[in-house]
Amino acid sequence: MTEQGYAKPIRLLHSLLALCMLTQLAVGELMDVPEVEKVPAATGISWITPAYAHEGHHHAIPGMPVEETLGFEVHQFLGLTVAALILIRLMLAMTSLPGANWRELVPWASAAGRKQLGEEIKTQIAGWKQGKLAPPEDGEAVARCVHGLILLAGTVIGITGTILFFGWSTTAPQTDIIELVASTHEVIVGGLEALLGAHVLAVVMHQHQGHNIIARIKPTA
Ligand code: HEM
Repeated sequence: MTEQGYAKPIRLLHSLLALCMLTQLAVGELMDVPEVEKVPAATGISWITPAYAHEGHHHAIPGMPVEETLGFEVHQFLGLTVAALILIRLMLAMTSLPGANWRELVPWASAAGRKQLGEEIKTQIAGWKQGKLAPPEDGEAVARCVHGLILLAGTVIGITGTILFFGWSTTAPQTDIIELVASTHEVIVGGLEALLGAHVLAVVMHQHQGHNIIARIKPTA
């Protein structure tokens, strides 16, 4: 990547994505999920575990339709917005704008990228153990891997979320397949939160160590 950093569209998209995605994660943790309770079976045990975030969030009467909550509606609207932003980012990954191309996000997909990753880890690991990060000019393969994984996790969450947008029922208990999609959605959200935690921590450490990487991504440059 050049000294000027990321191309303008990537910078703008990053600000929008960061804002919408962090808000969406907070809304997702706080909202009540409207879900029709399964009518308890007279005998037998259900082997399908409902998606865990949906338990205990509502006080519906078993079998009766439920109303959508405001938090859930905001989550649906913001989710479709984030999915559209990620789709635009994936389309930009097909261009050669500075910092945009998909090859930069998956260095492990090529032999040269894997070599660079290996060398970077070997030379930088001692510093990481002491809380020191190398400046981007000494290699960015590891950071790009994290960016790629964030976008990959966002893509899976966007796809499962879109399926849930069309498939989630407020008038009948969820089908097993929708429960499975909802559980996948939530598990990947957990992974994304860990990746974003690492991403923001790395940014704070880089800034603290004088690398000024914010200048490469801020929308107003
Ligand atoms: C407080 C929140 C955040 C801050 C301060 C921040 C900061 C940064 C910085 C400084 C870079 C440039 C790294 C470099 O020099 O190579 C970057 C890149 C990136 N960030 Fe963030 N970020 C934040 C939140 C997010 C969120 C929520 C996402 C989720 C989509 C995200 C995804 C990315 C991606 C994918 C890149 C690489 C640029 C691209 O390929 O689009 N960041 N971020």
